[in-house]
Amino acid sequence: MSKKPVNPSAVESTRYGHVAIALHWLIGLGLLAQITFGFLLDEIAPRGTPTRGSVINLHKSLGLVLGLLIVLRLLWRLRHQPPSLPASLPSWQRSAATLSHRTLYACMIAMPLSGYIASNFSKHGVKFFGTALRPWGSDAPAVYGVLNGLHYATGWLFAALIAVHIAAALKHGLIHRDGIFSRIAPRRSASHS
Ligand code: HEM
Ligand code: HEM
Repeated sequence: MSKKPVNPSAVESTRYGHVAIALHWLIGLGLLAQITFGFLLDEIAPRGTPTRGSVINLHKSLGLVLGLLIVLRLLWRLRHQPPSLPASLPSWQRSAATLSHRTLYACMIAMPLSGYIASNFSKHGVKFFGTALRPWGSDAPAVYGVLNGLHYATGWLFAALIAVHIAAALKHGLIHRDGIFSRIAPRRSASHS
């Protein structure tokens, strides 16, 4: 009688799946770049300079691409349960992780959505990599101001949450070494051992 082969997915059930890991890092790095780009817009292309329009439209286009990837990630997440956390993890840390992950997802949705809706209430609209998308709102500076304020405030909240998230991840990975970091770390190579 031959031995039953070991099921690799059963062995690695403590890790997120390949797609979740790929989307986490692709979107995570993209967001870090986009947030930095957003906060540096006035330095890169000050208001009134000829490059301002094209630089803002690049930010808008990249933001929309990220928004689509975020929708994909959210749909994937809703259909795939994450691996269960180690039993040794204190319950307050479980609750903190759930709350912070949900708030991160909320910010991931609010950022592209507020930017996109705001732009539809501005005469500038959105040029998606050079193609003008017809604005569906009126040119309403007051509405634009509120939504842009939301974009700005969420940007700061998001940046703060990401800083805490990265600090917590590094603490788990470098100090506690409790396996939390490796749940989502990109695999170095397919396991041959
Ligand atoms: C913009 C940047 C980032 C965002 C928005 C983000 C967001 C998230 C979210 C929402 C989750 C929960 C996944 C889920 O259960 O669906 C997660 C998990 C995780 N992230 Fe990030 N992340 C970012 C960057 C990073 C970075 C740079 C690191 C490492 C230094 C990191 C380390 C982790 C770890 C270790 C987990 C797994 C936590 C667990 O197993 O409960 N993340 N991230
Ligand atoms: C994940 C996606 C996005 C992130 C993380 C992001 C982040 C930021 C940040 C941090 C700022 C600087 C703060 C501010 O002045 O409001 C900013 C500015 C801006 N963003 Fe975004 N953004 C995203 C998507 C978008 C989208 C999709 C649009 C429009 C279609 C957009 C339009 C703008 C505009 C017009 C500004 C300049 C506002 C001003 O200076 O008055 N953003 N963004």
